[in-house]
Amino acid sequence: MSSTPEPFRILLLGCGRISERHFDAISATPGLKLVAVCDELPDRAAAAAEKYGVPGFTSERAMLSETEADIAAICTPSGLHPKHGILAAQHGLHVISEKPMATRLEDADALVRACDDAGVRLFVVKQNRLNPSIKLLRSAIEKGRFGRIYLANATVRWARPQSYYDQARWRGTWEFDGGAFMNQASHYVDMIQWLVGPVESVSAKTATLARQIESEDTGSAVLKFRNGAIGTIEVTMLTYPRNLEGSITIIGERGTAKVGGTALNRIETWEFAEYDDDDREIEALKQMPNPLSVYGSGHRPYYENVMRVLRGEAAPDTDGREGRKSLELILGIYQAARTGMDVALPLGLTPMAGRPR
Ligand SMILES: NC(=O)c1ccc[n+]([C@@H]2O[C@H](COP(=O)([O-])OP(=O)(O)OC[C@H]3O[C@@H](n4cnc5c(N)ncnc54)[C@H](O)[C@@H]3O)[C@@H](O)[C@H]2O)c1
Repeated sequence: MSSTPEPFRILLLGCGRISERHFDAISATPGLKLVAVCDELPDRAAAAAEKYGVPGFTSERAMLSETEADIAAICTPSGLHPKHGILAAQHGLHVISEKPMATRLEDADALVRACDDAGVRLFVVKQNRLNPSIKLLRSAIEKGRFGRIYLANATVRWARPQSYYDQARWRGTWEFDGGAFMNQASHYVDMIQWLVGPVESVSAKTATLARQIESEDTGSAVLKFRNGAIGTIEVTMLTYPRNLEGSITIIGERGTAKVGGTALNRIETWEFAEYDDDDREIEALKQMPNPLSVYGSGHRPYYENVMRVLRGEAAPDTDGREGRKSLELILGIYQAARTGMDVALPLGLTPMAGRPR
């Protein structure tokens, strides 16, 4: 007689904006049970605790020592992900970190190593990689449909008023957030390096033109990929009067494709010299409604993968080492902008020489 396996118990740290996506995905994922929440703001902790019927904490240490759990979802400000992830790993919990996994490479490496040492999994949320349109784009690249890739572009022309940055003190700081490349455009940076990378070198300009923040509100980077292609990333949070575009374009010898929409979910151009069965899905995708949120709708499939990995049925979509790659590129962009030099990647001599899981 087969018995139902015990659910994986998950606790969540940081009950702010993105936590809603996690709560939604947790409740939609069979075999997953929310057991506690924590936010340093007592009203946020209490509101989430009441809404989801679980104990609420204002101290992560208290939550971790008083709660039996298997997984920690880390939704705190970016610069705190390593500290909170390491603490969770030391308590024997698998870690799901929101993106970016850290704001400094050494902190990201410490998090990866702590999870290795504790024998737990580290997942870094890159939910847009799971969009149907992006999966088709990746499939076209893997099948060689572009031929030689010449140019890859990411464009993020969004509007974030000062009031957005003023919502919380961590926003726009170097230590806890970073700027337009690190926070708002990080999925686009990740996408371009995942699709066309590895990146060999980068040059960049950044500027803080209009917002009262430490980090950049605008910037532009030029990439040289190891396969010879050129890449450009253009980012601004100052678009008047509203979000204009968030897109990835790839131009190759025998194909051109552009994916845009609110959160990289809409095919805007899809032209290839040769037909492939994938093309039948394109027309259907073109009709799909645009998600209202720039966060997209990828957190549910992301959690499905987490569950399959923990059951031993799948490899992780994005683990710590994978999540680190886009952080390294973003930090390379920052170094290039600061020094005015072309920066070679990888940044470290022995990137992640630790034991791979
Ligand atoms: N995957 C995505 O598309 C996506 C989208 C938005 C945000 N994010 C990421 O999610 C993270 C959070 O962003 P947000 O927009 O939800 O921010 P937010 O400010 O709305 O939420 C962060 C929460 O963490 C809490 N917090 C801070 N320090 C804490 C501590 N020491 N202990 C407990 N709680 C603490 C804050 O009180 C706040 O409620 C960021 O890293 C951001 O980059 C990812």
